[in-house]
Amino acid sequence: MIGRLNHIAIAVPDLKAGATVYRDTLGAKVSAPLDLPEHGVTTVFVELPNAKIELIHPLGDKSPIASFLERNPAGGIHHVCYEVDDIRAARDRLKAAGARVLGDGEPKVGAHGKPVLFLHPKDFLGTLIEIEER
Ligand code: CO
Repeated sequence: MIGRLNHIAIAVPDLKAGATVYRDTLGAKVSAPLDLPEHGVTTVFVELPNAKIELIHPLGDKSPIASFLERNPAGGIHHVCYEVDDIRAARDRLKAAGARVLGDGEPKVGAHGKPVLFLHPKDFLGTLIEIEER
């Protein structure tokens, strides 16, 4: 059911330092920081040939990643995102299999303007999974 890896999101305590590591040390193509207020994060996109890395930093005082950074002050992998063809069909199949879909179960428009859902990490080997309609 899942298709390509779309991105891995890494929460970082310092976006500028994170961008420097990916641009200068790892030699990747790195975007300018982009505020995504509706998601409560500022994001730097790292473009790799086969996927993206997204460095995410809290934006505003109700950021969904604030508590993650409190538990992981040095930063860490926050979620992985897989593409699916039909997000509602994917959701229904996952729910039928007993997986927990976060929120109200209705897809929301994600950072790339496409519908996304998040799946409970306890059902997926301790990893928060985002699915995005491609
Ligand atoms: Co994401």
